[in-house]
Amino acid sequence: MATSRIYNCVLYFKSLFNPILKSWSPKLLAHHETTCISRRYSAKCPPMKGGSGAPKKVESRRLFKVYRYGGIASKESPKMQTFELDVSKCGPMVLDAMIKLKDMDPTFSFRRSCREGICGSCAVCLQGHNCLACITAIPPAKTITLHPLPHMYVLRDLVVDMTHFLDQYNSIRPYLIRKSTPRSMGQFQYAQSDADWHKFVGLYECVLCACCATSCPSYWWNGRRFLGPASLLHAYRWVVDSRDEDTLNRLCELRDDFKAFRCHTILNCALACPKGLNPGLAIAKLKRLITGLDKKPPPEMDPLKLSGGGRGGLESCIAKQSKKKKC
Ligand code: SF4
Ligand code: SF4
Ligand code: FES
Repeated sequence: MATSRIYNCVLYFKSLFNPILKSWSPKLLAHHETTCISRRYSAKCPPMKGGSGAPKKVESRRLFKVYRYGGIASKESPKMQTFELDVSKCGPMVLDAMIKLKDMDPTFSFRRSCREGICGSCAVCLQGHNCLACITAIPPAKTITLHPLPHMYVLRDLVVDMTHFLDQYNSIRPYLIRKSTPRSMGQFQYAQSDADWHKFVGLYECVLCACCATSCPSYWWNGRRFLGPASLLHAYRWVVDSRDEDTLNRLCELRDDFKAFRCHTILNCALACPKGLNPGLAIAKLKRLITGLDKKPPPEMDPLKLSGGGRGGLESCIAKQSKKKKC
């Protein structure tokens, strides 16, 4: 008798909570999807089964709404052009679809080169999210929109002017600077321990696509003076390089209200990066070095270990080769 009462109670509470759980679960699933938003189209993080983002069967015929602008010399205003494309007849990536669209209208312009996610030239804004078109799968939506990278001057269609972005990158002097031992370029190698090299992981993979910078609100409003996530990520990469000897000057140059300190750690850059990097984290570490909260540790290995004294390394190889030639 008591057991049946307990059983009835359990059934009662179950029926009471079931509708609540049912109404909660779509919200939880939706939350999962928003946190994975940057990965959704790159198929790295497939949507949870049964959720609102569960793969639906979408017709292979899709509508591509593409931003068209003839450039500053053109008298026409920018407009959205609609193309209908059967995506079963092209490759799986957005770039494959874009190439098909170009076959349909040869005046449609965009940049691409490697189609491997290496050159960083095919960055576009797909469905409102920046991505590299060549490594992003065609989203399972009936209508697909393609815009140029936001807050950039458009030269033509999806081609944006990268001059200012690349000037900012150049301004951080993205190369090794040696002071104590100036040597002719390309003739000597500088040694580095494994641990020192591993500091570049998460930095050297950057392909300068500008997806992060153009999704950063601070860069939108202060793009002329704030260097933006990509350039600052590279600045940090050269500051932490154990072989570089211009750290102090590099940090002094960044000691400015705008250059690095306009980053408010919103982390849009980390969400947008198609290579899975976290420029926001690199900037946070860079700020600590600029303000003197952290100090750059000395190199674990003498950078001249392999190139000094003629005892080994590239220098001795060159010396031996030139000796042989003389003989
Ligand atoms: S973390 Fe900094 S650089 Fe990245 S989006 Fe936010 S403000 Fe921009
Ligand atoms: S950090 Fe990522 S998003 Fe930014 S330029 Fe480099 S690869 Fe592109
Ligand atoms: S074509 Fe090179 S990164 Fe996409």
